[in-house]
Amino acid sequence: MPLKLALIGLPGSGKSSVAKHLAQHYRWAQVDTDQVFESRVGMPIRDFFSAHGEAAFRDLETEVLADCLQRPGPLVLATGGGIVLRPENRQLLRKQSLVFFLKQRPEELARRLKTDTKRPLLQGGDALAKLRDLAGVRDPLYRQSAHYTVEAQRPTVAAVVQWICMQL
Ligand code: S3P
Repeated sequence: MPLKLALIGLPGSGKSSVAKHLAQHYRWAQVDTDQVFESRVGMPIRDFFSAHGEAAFRDLETEVLADCLQRPGPLVLATGGGIVLRPENRQLLRKQSLVFFLKQRPEELARRLKTDTKRPLLQGGDALAKLRDLAGVRDPLYRQSAHYTVEAQRPTVAAVVQWICMQL
């Protein structure tokens, strides 16, 4: 089976940027589940959340992930931060791809997302506290899903890309 790399981690951990650089490096296709989701529903995720709620988002996100992983050929896949919440997604990711968890400290994520308005789960209130809560719930799920964890002391996109390339 052609190699598929999947990147998982909290919002702001650099999944999309790292995926773009890896795909350029290997000349592979790059797909982002959030982008596929938005083009499928024809609206930003934030608007979909307000209109239909999180459960509907997770249902469709699960379908989008399965479709992305069925694409033929080598691929770098950036995923939405909550993709690991569904057990079937965790299983599918591990089975169909080599999974890298981009681990980053909530303080650093909050700094990067200071002016973000796109992510519904981080709007209104203390983003750092929300990111800490998300990390508490999701870190074990990211670790369960991942073949590799890229630790937080690799802070730049280039350092993360280089580390991932060294594992392949
Ligand atoms: C989400 C993260 C977002 C997006 C949606 C939900 C989450 O993706 O899928 O807003 O539950 O953490 P990013 O991780 O790319 O921000």
